[in-house]
Amino acid sequence: MSFDPTIQRFDSIDSTNLEAMRQARAGTPEGLCIVAREQTRGRGRLDRSWQSPRDAGLYMSVVLRPQFEMNAWPLITLMAALAVHEALLKACGLRADIKWPNDLCVSDRKLCGILAETVETMSGAAAVVGIGINLTANGLPMVNAEATSVESVTGQSPDRELVLHELLKSIGEQYELLRSATGCEHLIREWCANSSYAIGRRVRVALSEESFEGTTRGLEGDGALRVETADGKLRVVRAGDVTGLRSTGVE
Ligand code: BTN
Repeated sequence: MSFDPTIQRFDSIDSTNLEAMRQARAGTPEGLCIVAREQTRGRGRLDRSWQSPRDAGLYMSVVLRPQFEMNAWPLITLMAALAVHEALLKACGLRADIKWPNDLCVSDRKLCGILAETVETMSGAAAVVGIGINLTANGLPMVNAEATSVESVTGQSPDRELVLHELLKSIGEQYELLRSATGCEHLIREWCANSSYAIGRRVRVALSEESFEGTTRGLEGDGALRVETADGKLRVVRAGDVTGLRSTGVE
């Protein structure tokens, strides 16, 4: 079945992800898209919060009910990152970099975060894909030199509705691809082609208990990041924070 989005709009809400999860539990079909002008409890990865001032960003969450193997579900996050990449290009003429696993950056400053969550429902597991795009600089924490917005980068105020329209279109296309026979390989290839983090990037990886440095060596079939350490060992990263480092010129 093709992806057919239904948009529900909220003036203010705790979190579009929480609302999408509530509705998924209540049985809403695939394609529900919750959009809010502001979030009072916006959520980020690793239990962080996501600042969501009124009208400063696009805050949206989509409910999916994937029928493919659970071990391919991590690719949903990569799929969403690719969809945002494409939507920003089409709606704003902005080519953003994809940072593993799911940030969109320009000059290493973040302008979009993605939080994909799994929820058990009566009709099986569902995925909620939450996307937050900083559209304007209004309300971005002044001290946060790591963040940026579409407006700051392009010098133009983005058309929120156009971004949303392109984003849903792109999610539909990427999701359809992902469900096809060669979809996973295709997605990983596309992701790598649009990310400076995929291959040969010096990074620091912060895990819950340790951190280490190395050079990226592409993705595993499930989207995990391969990182080669100085002693030549290959480590596979499935969770954690990745920070780009200045290259020493030594590979
Ligand atoms: C991250 O980078 O940590 C992920 C941030 C995800 C934020 C979006 S905003 C819309 C959706 N609702 C939420 O509560 N979080 C996601």
